[in-house]
Amino acid sequence: MLLKALLVVSLLFPFCTSIDTIEMDQHVKDGDLLVSKENIFALGFFSPRNSSSRYVGIWYVQKDQKAVVWVANRNDPINDTSGVLTIDRYGRLLLYSNNMQNIPVWSTNVTVQTASFSCRAQLLDSGNLVIYRDNKSKKFMWQSFDYPTDTLLPGMKLGVNWKLGIEWVLTSWKSQDNPGTGEYTNRLYSNQTATPEFFIFYKGLTPHWRSAPVDAGTLVSNQDEMYFFLKNDSTSTRVVLKDSGLVQHLRWNNADREWKELWSGPKYRCDLYGECGANSKCSPDNIISFECDCLPGYEPKSVNDWNMRDGSDGCVSKRVAVSKCRNGEGFMKVARVKDPDTTKAARLEKGISVKECEQVCLSNCSCTAYMVIESEGRSDCLTWYGELLDILVYTQAGRDLHVRVDKIELAENSQNSKDFLKRRGMLAVLMLSVLLALVLIVSLACWRIKKKRKTKETRRHPELQFFHLRTIIAATNNFSPVQKLGQGGFGTVYKGVLRNNQNIAVKRLSRTSEQGVEEFKNEVALIARLQHRNLVKLLGCCIKGQERMLVLEYLPNKSLDCFLFDHTKKSLLDWQKRFEIINGVARGVLYLHQDSRLRIIPRDLKTSNVLLDAEMNPKISDFGMARIFHGDQLQDRTNRVVGTYGYMPPEYVVFGRFSTKLDVFSFGVILLEIVSGKKNNSFHQEDHFVNLIGHVWQLWSEDRALEIVDSSLESYTPDEAMRCIQVGLLCVEEESKNRPSMSAVVFMLSGEASAPSPQQPAFSLRKNSSGDAAVPSVSKGSCSINDVTITKFEGR
Ligand SMILES: *[C@@H]1O[C@H](CO)[C@@H](O)[C@H](O)[C@H]1NC(C)=O
Ligand SMILES: *[C@@H]1O[C@H](CO)[C@@H](O)[C@H](O)[C@H]1NC(C)=O
Ligand SMILES: *[C@@H]1O[C@H](CO)[C@@H](O)[C@H](O)[C@H]1NC(C)=O
Ligand SMILES: *[C@@H]1O[C@H](CO)[C@@H](O)[C@H](O)[C@H]1NC(C)=O
Ligand SMILES: *[C@@H]1O[C@H](CO)[C@@H](O)[C@H](O)[C@H]1NC(C)=O
Ligand SMILES: *[C@@H]1O[C@H](CO)[C@@H](O)[C@H](O)[C@H]1NC(C)=O
Ligand SMILES: *[C@@H]1O[C@H](CO)[C@@H](O)[C@H](O)[C@H]1NC(C)=O
Repeated sequence: MLLKALLVVSLLFPFCTSIDTIEMDQHVKDGDLLVSKENIFALGFFSPRNSSSRYVGIWYVQKDQKAVVWVANRNDPINDTSGVLTIDRYGRLLLYSNNMQNIPVWSTNVTVQTASFSCRAQLLDSGNLVIYRDNKSKKFMWQSFDYPTDTLLPGMKLGVNWKLGIEWVLTSWKSQDNPGTGEYTNRLYSNQTATPEFFIFYKGLTPHWRSAPVDAGTLVSNQDEMYFFLKNDSTSTRVVLKDSGLVQHLRWNNADREWKELWSGPKYRCDLYGECGANSKCSPDNIISFECDCLPGYEPKSVNDWNMRDGSDGCVSKRVAVSKCRNGEGFMKVARVKDPDTTKAARLEKGISVKECEQVCLSNCSCTAYMVIESEGRSDCLTWYGELLDILVYTQAGRDLHVRVDKIELAENSQNSKDFLKRRGMLAVLMLSVLLALVLIVSLACWRIKKKRKTKETRRHPELQFFHLRTIIAATNNFSPVQKLGQGGFGTVYKGVLRNNQNIAVKRLSRTSEQGVEEFKNEVALIARLQHRNLVKLLGCCIKGQERMLVLEYLPNKSLDCFLFDHTKKSLLDWQKRFEIINGVARGVLYLHQDSRLRIIPRDLKTSNVLLDAEMNPKISDFGMARIFHGDQLQDRTNRVVGTYGYMPPEYVVFGRFSTKLDVFSFGVILLEIVSGKKNNSFHQEDHFVNLIGHVWQLWSEDRALEIVDSSLESYTPDEAMRCIQVGLLCVEEESKNRPSMSAVVFMLSGEASAPSPQQPAFSLRKNSSGDAAVPSVSKGSCSINDVTITKFEGR
């Protein structure tokens, strides 16, 4: 491959002594290579990975040919192999293609106006493509090192030259297939009044992360310019800013013939700029609990978000009323941190001792913190004026930050208060204690009033919460498989734990309905307003791009079917419990049909959608799905029905017609299943090919209805059981108009209203043969967990 390339090159430049140079009468065609003297770098045309576009680039010859370190026409690809690179009399590199005959696709920008016939371009062994005017002058008219793409090589500079008005930055590729200018870039932060310098990596225009302060050994700073460079230790090394925003410092390992990573970033969530907002610190080691923590004297701005492990709002002063200006204030140490962001309001004063630095900060009431930087036997003083941003806690490295706090914070801190005692004596202590006690009493009273008011308010407005994706990610440990509770027709459900230790269930919706974000929010907000003790509480949602997630109350017990149809767990449901569950489900459905203003028709009631809380109280889940997914439209469009066979009445299965009577039918099936402990759609009776409904009807008409009661029950109340069976049969009647309303159901179950005689129910005579829609096969032992629906979307 290399030999072939060399051959091509020597054929191309038959009269040239070197193949690393293009002179004015020469050019590089697609397929030719320019190779540096020591055979280290090559320049030529290439196509990235899956792309067919052609670019002019520089890459390693012997190492990793895929590692392209520089791209000329990164935003001006050529779509065929007609590209030709040449140099003109003004020392400009020009790239032509067939598609644009006389206009170069790309060119360098050289300001020299006088033409010369001795311009030449040369690829050096450092990877630098340079343009000379003639032999004598070794000064480059132009060099590729001044126009980095995504890679820093030894010999290149990253930073700024104020005199020439040049800024050297890396810019990521758009993607691995497209070297075009991507969204990540980095700047060496260059405010001479506020060293130390560090890199800020931007995503678009917003800071993405901030590096640790740049090591003085790799930084040059003078009047004209300031830049970072890679130390040349004779091995091959490079820094690359990848299209994902990841920065890697790599070194070539000759033995393994691969690039090894020396360091990379951002590594932790804490590295991300402002992850914890203002006046807070981020500890990567605290990932299990919560990485954000307020600085001394500060408290979360939004306790709610904080509890949900979202620190982006940051912290505010605990006591606005207590001045931190000549009012007994002081400093508290936060050990081993990355210096807060100095780009906004910070000041560096050189040659100032530790004690003086404290005084510098103390004497200016706008000063919020100081840090002493000790190097080479000298100490400099760095002070901040305003919000403290992007503080990361290191376990080993880092410098101590001293944060200005008011006198109360100071006193509360035991160590500092010792100094305080010495200085002010016992009297001050006494006065302070009295003051403290007073403050404590007052704040306690305030807190109580606040709390009372708050609970009142929350009771009045059960607000829908919008969760940040990162809150959900933190709570579910990034959707860890360990947290997965189950999977259903609407998506996967994960268990999550919020910062305040509240358990939640996160339903990550797999199907996207056609509704937009606003419509989705509206539906979720409407559904969240439905609050009933027999409904699973919808706490909020999370929307990020195409992702839609519902955040629900977490119930420790599984769904009703897991108990009802399990030989051992059945015993946990005695008759009294079963009767309570039946009544609870009935009240839940009644609320949805009538009491709520929304008139929800869940359409998918079944035992697996009835969850049990710690006290085995039933809670209906998934009741809003038809609304969220626009069930009716879905059905119109695709001719499919939402629901689960065995729980659906004939008018819905056959005609797709639905009304509240659909739910009444499903409720009837659930009721009979609870009483019998048997599944309707997997019911087998030795001689008779009938389903549960048919079997109950048969026994009812033979006056043997109570025989259907689950034989595993040690005892039951015949009165109540009989009432249940009768109501159940009424609910599953063939004609929807003959089925009772849910309010009638509730009354009849309680015995306050008498029930009429049921007629022959729907599906009662259907045979349990394969292909019969009424009695499909259902995998045995399948059981849903927490909030999982096993809804099937099947054609009719
Ligand atoms: C690129 O091509 C490879 C194999 O040809 C394929 O596996 C990969 O998915 C492609 N990547 C993209 C982003 O198209
Ligand atoms: C390349 O792009 C030009 C316009 O930009 C177009 O006219 C030409 O047909 C394209 N050639 C190929 C081979 O796609
Ligand atoms: C070329 O450089 C000049 C002066 O530095 C600048 O004004 C101009 O925008 C540049 N043109 C291009 C195409 O980069
Ligand atoms: C440049 O130097 C080369 C050899 O070093 C020589 O052959 C060539 O004539 C020189 N060109 C000019 C324009 O001086
Ligand atoms: C790096 O160092 C080697 C020898 O140590 C030297 O040959 C090479 O020119 C240097 N490269 C740069 C870019 O300074
Ligand atoms: C440098 O920082 C100071 C004080 O923080 C600020 O006033 C000044 O505008 C900054 N200068 C630049 C060039 O950003
Ligand atoms: C305090 O510091 C700020 C920011 O550097 C400065 O603008 C202000 O003048 C200083 N105030 C005093 C009283 O020195």
